[in-house]
Amino acid sequence: TTTLNTRKFTKPEASVSAVSIKDQILGAKVVLPVTVVTTDKGDRLLVLINKKIRLPSSYAPTDLVDISGFAGSRLRSEAADNLLQMFIAAKNEGMNLTIVSAYRSYQEQVSVFNGWVASAGKSSAERFSARPGFSQHQLGTAVDIGAVGRTTFSDSFGKTPEGVWLAGNSYKYGFVLSYPAGKEATTGYSYEPWHFRYIGVINAQTMVNSGLILEEYLQKFGTW
Ligand code: DAL
Ligand code: ZN
Repeated sequence: TTTLNTRKFTKPEASVSAVSIKDQILGAKVVLPVTVVTTDKGDRLLVLINKKIRLPSSYAPTDLVDISGFAGSRLRSEAADNLLQMFIAAKNEGMNLTIVSAYRSYQEQVSVFNGWVASAGKSSAERFSARPGFSQHQLGTAVDIGAVGRTTFSDSFGKTPEGVWLAGNSYKYGFVLSYPAGKEATTGYSYEPWHFRYIGVINAQTMVNSGLILEEYLQKFGTW
């Protein structure tokens, strides 16, 4: 005898949720470390480094290069290439950008952080200087950018022509602001209009489109 398949097929219901896939992804729950963890993924462009996620003291990128025209400043090769493209584009629009600090080793960050603790006091220093191991500068993809003749930084850099140009154009070269104004509760650091991190051109464009700041973008799409 033949058993007929009587299972009833129905057309799938239209989506019951008005929430777009994008919103679902952006709204996905992120479980962040509650105590300090050490990541072994320092080489990834989208590694999240914050006050809970650090690099091993031994970590250094293997593809650091001298940035052409900026003696003593190094970045990872891809970041260096894109930085120079950005500087050329800025120059064509009348902006003379310069590098104040690029790659810093763990040991260099020890000196930088201890120097700020000595001069500003610990609780103040913690708001603008990363403890050794916790700095994006150790990644070789973070860079403090100034204008020629203006390399001591304050909030007002963000209002200079160079600061405004960087804020509006850096993503085209893969660089994004790590510590935007008014986001200290999220990033752990006060506004740094000079500190940019390279995450790749496509990621930077995606981040800008998403409206997320770097910390939020890496919590959702990055790794640690
Ligand atoms: N100024 C940033 C937070 C650093 O020290 O890496
Ligand atoms: Zn910096």
